[in-house]
Amino acid sequence: MSKSGLNFLSARCRLLAMNKMHAIGGQTARSGGPTPPEDSARAIRGALLGRSLVLVGMMGSGKTSIGQRLAQRLGLPFKDADAEIVAAAAGMSIPDIFAKYGEAHFRDCERRVIARLLAGEPCVLATGGGAFMDETTRARVKERGVSLWFDAAHDVLLRRVRRKGDRPLLQTSDPAAVLRRLMDERYPVYRQADIAVLSRDVPHEVMVEETVTALLAWAVGAPESATTQGFTRFMTSRTPPAPIEPQTVEVGLGDRAYDIVIGAGLLEQAGEHLARIAPGAACAIVTDANVARLQLPVLRHSLERSGIRTTSIIVEPGEGSKSFPVFQRVCEDILEARIERRDVVLALGGGVVGDLAGFAAASVRRGSRFVQVPTTLLAQVDSSVGGKTGINTPQGKNLVGAFYQPSLVLADVDALATLPLREFRAGYAEVVKYGLIDDAFFFEWLENNASAVFADRAARVEAISVSCRSKAKIVARDETEQGDRALLNLGHTFGHALERLVHYDSERLVHGEGVAIGLVSAFRFSASLGLCSLQDAERVGRHLTRVGLPTRIRDIPGWRDDADAMLDAMFQDKKVERGALTFILARGIGRSFVAKRIEVDAVRSFLKDEIARE
Ligand SMILES: NC(=O)c1ccc[n+]([C@@H]2O[C@H](COP(=O)([O-])OP(=O)(O)OC[C@H]3O[C@@H](n4cnc5c(N)ncnc54)[C@H](O)[C@@H]3O)[C@@H](O)[C@H]2O)c1
Repeated sequence: MSKSGLNFLSARCRLLAMNKMHAIGGQTARSGGPTPPEDSARAIRGALLGRSLVLVGMMGSGKTSIGQRLAQRLGLPFKDADAEIVAAAAGMSIPDIFAKYGEAHFRDCERRVIARLLAGEPCVLATGGGAFMDETTRARVKERGVSLWFDAAHDVLLRRVRRKGDRPLLQTSDPAAVLRRLMDERYPVYRQADIAVLSRDVPHEVMVEETVTALLAWAVGAPESATTQGFTRFMTSRTPPAPIEPQTVEVGLGDRAYDIVIGAGLLEQAGEHLARIAPGAACAIVTDANVARLQLPVLRHSLERSGIRTTSIIVEPGEGSKSFPVFQRVCEDILEARIERRDVVLALGGGVVGDLAGFAAASVRRGSRFVQVPTTLLAQVDSSVGGKTGINTPQGKNLVGAFYQPSLVLADVDALATLPLREFRAGYAEVVKYGLIDDAFFFEWLENNASAVFADRAARVEAISVSCRSKAKIVARDETEQGDRALLNLGHTFGHALERLVHYDSERLVHGEGVAIGLVSAFRFSASLGLCSLQDAERVGRHLTRVGLPTRIRDIPGWRDDADAMLDAMFQDKKVERGALTFILARGIGRSFVAKRIEVDAVRSFLKDEIARE
């Protein structure tokens, strides 16, 4: 690691005590006081870092019955791998699948179903008793989940499974012996789970609370005996969340300068931050329905604890909310809530909410104070910084809006814990963009640390801070995009055209995926013009592919358009000046520049080759 600014692992120890407090909602592990249910759920979701909680154990150990209640308690969806297999087999029961196709076929289905579920949004996932025995599934769980084993004694299990009688492996004359043999085989492997909880014959609610206690202790890295009274223990506990040192990046815009604070647990501290910049102010929180469900309670609680009067304005998730009708309603709701100029309009959400709420803040009473609390990676590294706000019109994206800077940005990496992986990846494309614009060291660091950025809060804080510093530097030089700020559009001329041609259908392409393809296209186009080497372009593509981003136009599902359609879409982009196309091209990694008046024929011929490329 060659840059001093990238030494993100320093100073962890100093924050250990402080972070332990945040992790369990203000109660220290030592104090032993009860943790409010929502706080503990939030702390556990935060410690899961966007991974699923995978329940492992024998038949009858409580994976489904406890799992469903646990999921509800944690505010996560519950998924049952066996139920999904039955659904995939058009309702055929598991004993029937075993009887008709054999165990090998069943295990194969199970492996695929679990891989699919782990690739989706974080959930509590109950797996069948044999699932964790499969090496591939174990590796997948390790990569995308935190495993929790319900460890139950032989007599407890036997009693429970006898009550049911639908377990194919126990259809024998001596189920007790079969169960014993299965336990002997499986328990050494189950012991590899991250957390183990003793499954006892107590009411389900008691088991749920004991499991939550175990998860909280795991989340703060507490020693097993301190809080868990012997009902839980850690087997091969992976590193619990590391303490995080927050970082502050200043956007230097004179008397409109503001801070971007990047760290963990910031939603919980938002009240203190707001009280500091706007003492006595009331706050209208604009958010979307997804984020309202997942993040709003913690934010509201924090603001109200600091004596801040709050109103929540909730819009539909998605690009459709960046529209005149929704903008009108948000403005009216802000006025209805008696928000004055010195009060705060706060955007809690991704780029859609940030752009919409920012434009409303710029417009209501000719400008109210504005704070961004971005909850997607894209918003944390890009849209919340720099003051571009606005909505879409039938003529195109972002065509009505204003430059309006926030007074503060709070980027809480814990908020990313609930973000779907696909959205996280999309934001990562924008992170890579900063390396490619003018920071080859950062790109190299990302090549070496991508896995950490996808899994580790400290690495995320570092990547987001470097990205924000890079954007802040460019914005301070050219706030209203008269020159250099256009560099931030690296990959976007291609990306926007792709988005337009798929009609902004997020099933096929989300913004960041368009940017990923656009970044590779910008480098390949630069190489075709002899500006940079093909090796550089390939290096960019390799890195983005490695993290699971699309890099070729053909990667877009159902792509049928040709080079001329792409050109047309590019000409509709608002960055077209007098018919000539402006591109951001590169002389190498970290050496991008604004290239004006690019010949249309060169672009067409490049696009033809690209669309034909395998
Ligand atoms: N202003 C700027 O400078 C700028 C820069 C880049 C992009 N943008 C704009 O940003 C928008 C795209 O932003 P985006 O990618 O953040 O999309 P988004 O705001 O639509 O969020 C993506 C999805 O993630 C959900 N979500 C948000 N936070 C979540 C969380 N923590 N957990 C679970 N789900 C969560 C949202 O509900 C939504 O469904 C576009 O409208 C684009 O034009 C603006």
